[in-house]
Amino acid sequence: MPVHCTWSPEIASLPLNRKLLRQRCDMLLHLLELERATVSVVFLGDAEMAAYNQQYRKKQGPTNVLAFPAGADTDGFPVPDNELGDVLVSADTARREAAEQHTSLHHRLTELIIHGMLHLAGYDHERSGAEAARMEDQEKLLFQHLQQPRSVAMPYLAINVDHVATIRQARGGNEPDPVLAASLCELAGADGIVVHLREDRRHIQDRDVRLLRQTVKTRLNLEMANEPEIVAIALEVVPDMITLVPEKRKELTTEGGLDVLANTKKVGKTIAKMGKAGIPVSLFIDPDAAQVQAALDVGATFVELHTGRYCEARSMEEQDREFHLIEQMAELAYESGLRVNAGHGLDYRNVHPIAALPFIDELSIGHAVISRAVLVGLENAVREMLAIVRAL
Ligand code: PXP
Repeated sequence: MPVHCTWSPEIASLPLNRKLLRQRCDMLLHLLELERATVSVVFLGDAEMAAYNQQYRKKQGPTNVLAFPAGADTDGFPVPDNELGDVLVSADTARREAAEQHTSLHHRLTELIIHGMLHLAGYDHERSGAEAARMEDQEKLLFQHLQQPRSVAMPYLAINVDHVATIRQARGGNEPDPVLAASLCELAGADGIVVHLREDRRHIQDRDVRLLRQTVKTRLNLEMANEPEIVAIALEVVPDMITLVPEKRKELTTEGGLDVLANTKKVGKTIAKMGKAGIPVSLFIDPDAAQVQAALDVGATFVELHTGRYCEARSMEEQDREFHLIEQMAELAYESGLRVNAGHGLDYRNVHPIAALPFIDELSIGHAVISRAVLVGLENAVREMLAIVRAL
């Protein structure tokens, strides 16, 4: 085992993806062409880090990372040739720094591991300005190599055709047909179709879902409340995935994310049922670390991050803040092992930064595309959205 990772009990409560961090440590040795070396990476808390900082650097308080090259201070004990040394990382400090830098805990921890390992490999930013610049370049390069963003270069685009059904229901007849609309979206290049079968059946009807199951050639994502009647329909129809959303009778559209934290038992039960039927479950959540963790704990495959607050922001500052929150939570969810979708309120003007986030698998867009379709035709509206999403 070339990298030996140790986790202090002091940080047991932190949501660390140990597998991912271990993988990154191994990958780093490979990238540094040090596969034959052994390294010890210790993840600890601020109290322990402060003790080491005091003992070895005579400095008070914790620091983010310390590197101890093998052979530097061995009290005369022989050191095996292939032993590179130890890297100590404070996960507490990393967490604080991640919040300050609007990035995820795993992002910051990865930066610190890279920094420590480069020290072990002989880099030292304190030697000179030129050496500091060389080390920084190397850090950036290694970080880029370590990140494993989604498997496709850009996110998939799934079109929600609920509002085709809204127009149909306005007159109670059978025109326009969301099933036909879904086919047109696919012909224009959409990667998936989403419908929300609401309990009040205000737009999509049972017949639509059943027909779409037969006609959709890409992937059918059934958005639904976690209620027995709808769960039974999903189990009967077997869509390619379901997305659980909260539902209120009086809302115009889905208003907020699902409170997974407060409903772990109920959500977990449905996920287990869907799992037996081979249906992956996505949970539509607000970009919130506790909800991401709860989604992970109940066994969701995906989370769909609610982009509503970003889309409705009234100032650049607010939009920026909401964007960074989505960015952070997408990264956290991805790095915790979840797959990440996003949607709600996305349109032709605000979609680009979200589509550019490297951790997002799929965007779910409805109202903006269907509204534009009224004026320019459905295929044009889908193609125009695809052009933005794919122009990355
Ligand atoms: N994702 C979810 C979970 C939704 O509830 C909706 C709205 O039905 C969407 C995405 C699409 O939102 P919009 O129609 O604003 O594009």
